[in-house]
Amino acid sequence: KETIYILAIESSCDDTSVAVLQNDTMLSNVVASQKIHEEYGGVVPELASRAHQQNIVPVTTQALARANIDKKQLSAIAFTRGPGLMGSLLVGTSFAKSLALALDIPLIEVNHMQAHILAHFIKTENMAPPAFPFIALTISGGHTQIVKVNDYFEMEILGQTLDDAVGEAFDKSAKILGLPYPGGPLIDKYAAKGNPNAFEFPKPKVKDLNFSFSGLKTSILYFIQKQTAQNPNFIQENLEDICASIQYTIINILMSKLKKAVKSTGINRIAIGGGVSANSGIRSALKDAENELGWTTYIPNFEFCTDNAGMIGIVGYYKFKSNQFTGQEISAKARYNL
Ligand code: KG4
Ligand code: ZN
Repeated sequence: KETIYILAIESSCDDTSVAVLQNDTMLSNVVASQKIHEEYGGVVPELASRAHQQNIVPVTTQALARANIDKKQLSAIAFTRGPGLMGSLLVGTSFAKSLALALDIPLIEVNHMQAHILAHFIKTENMAPPAFPFIALTISGGHTQIVKVNDYFEMEILGQTLDDAVGEAFDKSAKILGLPYPGGPLIDKYAAKGNPNAFEFPKPKVKDLNFSFSGLKTSILYFIQKQTAQNPNFIQENLEDICASIQYTIINILMSKLKKAVKSTGINRIAIGGGVSANSGIRSALKDAENELGWTTYIPNFEFCTDNAGMIGIVGYYKFKSNQFTGQEISAKARYNL
């Protein structure tokens, strides 16, 4: 059986990443995160595409060097076609096309959301991938989806956010509290020492398995405005309790929809992905569900949770095996459904 070497490129948002895979084993996964956005409190699309432009060649060179293979050994180039920021996607797409053309090897287009889910199939020592069918919960700064995964390329969205992504809910709440971007990890950190029942925030009423987080953000804003009008030091004096209460509310929203999904599908294998999977609240809630409800949960190594090219590479590998290639006419797609 031939060995397949995939070079994969991810540039959908603010991380420039290139990975090299040997079959389903990752040889390298280089990520250049863009610090430039921190001072703006969010990703600035124009700056993101410029930074991708600067990073993409050095990151590729480093990924090949770390994998210790020559580019002439590559079997195919995989790249993120979408969804994402158009200017960012264009950099990776153009670069992938040029590389495939220059090396005269096939090109494979990858859906970023599919990649977050299939990241579980990157070979690791400590964990076997979930068996089909399973439920995937993809939670990040850009996405919030519950997906029924029947097979590698047979996925069905059961529910998704109607407005903000869950990572945005964390980041925007953090911004209201005066914390720097991205605030999700900071909320997590302060929440660890706070009382989750100190303050109560309303849970949105959203039908089926869909989510909505913009109302929560607004109610947090009004609550903080009201409290600081009475006590200018309210945030400083209660930061840990506020963070714990916000996190508790968000995790409750996610878990109640997950429970609903398990009930309606009868599937209790749950795989999570996306940057918010790092959150200690969701991790312990899933552990509780294992113990109390008999679920089996899958949490990938953090390296594969956030945006990275390794996950693009694993999709590339499975597409290569099933001959799913694309031609040079392909273009990036900012909105790209599963
Ligand atoms: O997957 P990711 O790196 O990029 C995309 O958005 O696609 O996810 C980043 C998001 C940010 O919103 C960040 O605040 C959130 O993940 N995040 C967290 C934690 N770590 C990262 N949110 C809550 N708790 C965390 N520990
Ligand atoms: Zn992502």
